[in-house]
Amino acid sequence: MSVSIDTASSVGDTLISETINHLHNRVSVRKYSDKLVSSEIIDAVLSASFRAPTSSNIQAYSVVIVREQETKNKLSVLTGNQKHVANTPVFLAFCADLTGMEGALKRHGHDMEDNNLEIGLVSTIDASLVGMSAYLAAESLGLHGLMIGGVRNDTKAVAEVLGLPRRAYCVFGMCLGWPAETPELKPRMAYENMVHHEKYDVAKSEAQLDAYDKALAEHYRSIGKNTTDASWTDDIDNKFSIPRRTNLRSALKDLGFNFT
Ligand SMILES: Cc1cc2nc3c(=O)[nH]c(=O)nc-3n(C[C@H](O)[C@H](O)[C@H](O)COP(=O)(O)O)c2cc1C
Repeated sequence: MSVSIDTASSVGDTLISETINHLHNRVSVRKYSDKLVSSEIIDAVLSASFRAPTSSNIQAYSVVIVREQETKNKLSVLTGNQKHVANTPVFLAFCADLTGMEGALKRHGHDMEDNNLEIGLVSTIDASLVGMSAYLAAESLGLHGLMIGGVRNDTKAVAEVLGLPRRAYCVFGMCLGWPAETPELKPRMAYENMVHHEKYDVAKSEAQLDAYDKALAEHYRSIGKNTTDASWTDDIDNKFSIPRRTNLRSALKDLGFNFT
């Protein structure tokens, strides 16, 4: 029997449901109140998120729940001195984790020494699906949060702080708490330019850049943030014209993931 999560309705031409409406209004939150985020809440959020689909039922993920201030301080430094990481009530580390898979193979006389890019991707995707599911489950209870890719600045040091075994690495973290700010929605690229029908329309990719530079510049200026007229393309160029995290592949190899 199929049961919908919530009731769908139409606003003008737009089909809407609670979940769709929620997604349209989602925004990253970086400031949290001191109010406790109980273990019951975290358990409810994570246990629901573990229903996410998982490639070949591998369930190649695990989550480390961090509440201790000293650990959050260390993670804050490692993620590039991000103060919300130190100030979050709870930090969840979403890990790709091959230990279960390795255990299964060992029982049947095999090992994981030849694991390859596919295994690395599968476990990383698994962890990401669980992370996004947890994010939405938390928001359904009124919590808000922020994903933290800065954990991959120094993947091995983060693994050490979290006590991860070989064959596990933190794909991204998540700050989670009761919101103490209500940020404006950050615009997205135009729907029409991101969606293709039957075949990819290359002309759309070029067309969207000017429009999005303008929309993002307007947004940043409206919230008092410094930017240039070429807001998005400038940001992206500044961040990615020089290769980042160049030691990531060798760090992941040392942690037991062969991404070559
Ligand atoms: C995997 C991932 C990693 C991220 N890492 C960081 C981070 O380390 N620090 C941060 O401030 N925001 C981080 N973000 C948040 C993005 O900057 C944010 O989602 C994006 O700018 C869009 O803004 P919005 O979520 O408010 O719509 C991350 C988001 C994702 C999905």
